Amino acid sequence: MDDRARFLVRYAGGFAPEVVARAEGAWVETEGGRRILDFTSGQICSTLGHSHPRIADAVRRSLDEVVHLNSWMLSEPVLALAERLAGLLPAPLDRIMLLNTGSEANEVALKLAKMHTGRFEVAALTRSFHGLLSGIASVNFSMAHAGYGPLLPGSFAVPAPYAYRCPVRHCDGICDCTCLEVGFELLDQQSVGSLCAFVAEPVLSAGGILVPPEGYFRRVRELCAERGMLLVMDEAQTGFGRLGTMFGFERDGVVPDLVAVSKTLGGGLPLAATMASAPIEEDCYRKGFLHVTSHVSDPLPASAGLAVLDVIEEEGLVARARERGNYLLAGLRELQAKHEQVGDVRGLGLLAGLELVEDRESRRPADELGAAVTRECLERGLSMNIVRAGSSANTFRMAPPLVVTEAEIDLALEILDASLRAALSRAAA
Ligand SMILES: Cc1ncc(COP(=O)(O)O)c(C=O)c1O
Repeated sequence: MDDRARFLVRYAGGFAPEVVARAEGAWVETEGGRRILDFTSGQICSTLGHSHPRIADAVRRSLDEVVHLNSWMLSEPVLALAERLAGLLPAPLDRIMLLNTGSEANEVALKLAKMHTGRFEVAALTRSFHGLLSGIASVNFSMAHAGYGPLLPGSFAVPAPYAYRCPVRHCDGICDCTCLEVGFELLDQQSVGSLCAFVAEPVLSAGGILVPPEGYFRRVRELCAERGMLLVMDEAQTGFGRLGTMFGFERDGVVPDLVAVSKTLGGGLPLAATMASAPIEEDCYRKGFLHVTSHVSDPLPASAGLAVLDVIEEEGLVARARERGNYLLAGLRELQAKHEQVGDVRGLGLLAGLELVEDRESRRPADELGAAVTRECLERGLSMNIVRAGSSANTFRMAPPLVVTEAEIDLALEILDASLRAALSRAAA
């Protein structure tokens, strides 16, 4: 680790060994001039690639015009972005609040849900990740509960659709939604009669790239409706094209009650939004809804968001994510055919996962191998991360920018293959 990092709080273990000087497209370049292929799009935010000129232009314009305002003053970029987002969403979702981070967008969604329903119990999937601010972190079941005191009362987990390791030991390979039915049965038996909302990612990303079976969210919708619960979709990573659809919830044709978007809207700048229907917004307004923060409705990130939406549309990046995603998944399946230790490959669009096991028979998670392959990849010029959910950290998450080329995917697959071989032969020595 660079010696200058001694002044930083270590917020997630350690830091990368090299310092980055610049980044462009799917690449970052270190101070030493080493180029590294970024298969995490930063923190899954830079969907247009790093340093996109259209985002840079929008930010420059904003610096000249207006960066920040008192939260009750509105500006053209904020009004334009709200209208644009309302146009992208299905009816009746046409009320938008512009915020900064994904945690905050989920926090606001749950505050609206609680105020609107007058209830407080919230359910989410095991292995879910929704952010680390205290409220939303209560239903963040993949990590980070230990050490921070009590969770919010009324926080419940429903088993995630993890077909490779079925949480209710029922399915193998294809989820038939028994986990969901079991989860709601548990929920009913634990509830104090105040069921408010169910929050979910369309594909669980930090949880190990778990793709729910088709129709899963239609059933979630029914189960919520039977109980008067609102459905909140957390589209932090999946919104604006990554899965090959504009939003992840489109796959099942459901319309959520509230949608939270973040990472992918700002293209690298801190921008998020919570989106609701007029009846929810009007009811909460009447009841005195309050969530005013220093950077709510700031013009600068809103300008960047408009540029992101323009480029996604003009360059057809939603369709591109679908095509390149299929290409990447096909390549990963070839690696699976070659390496016994690649237990499972899964994904949708350009959000792909590769799970490492000690062997296919036992399916024991190969955490050490994962850490070794990550190091080997970085040395060879590929940045990817292993996601940790629960006790194991053995699934690679790949989420390159939507502008990634086939040649860049080929290179990443080559590096991954070589890194797997190197790590395996080192372990065998
Ligand atoms: C699905 C999901 N929701 C919410 C968040 C939290 O977003 P932020 O880190 O911007 O607060 C993340 C971050 O990784 C995420 O992946």
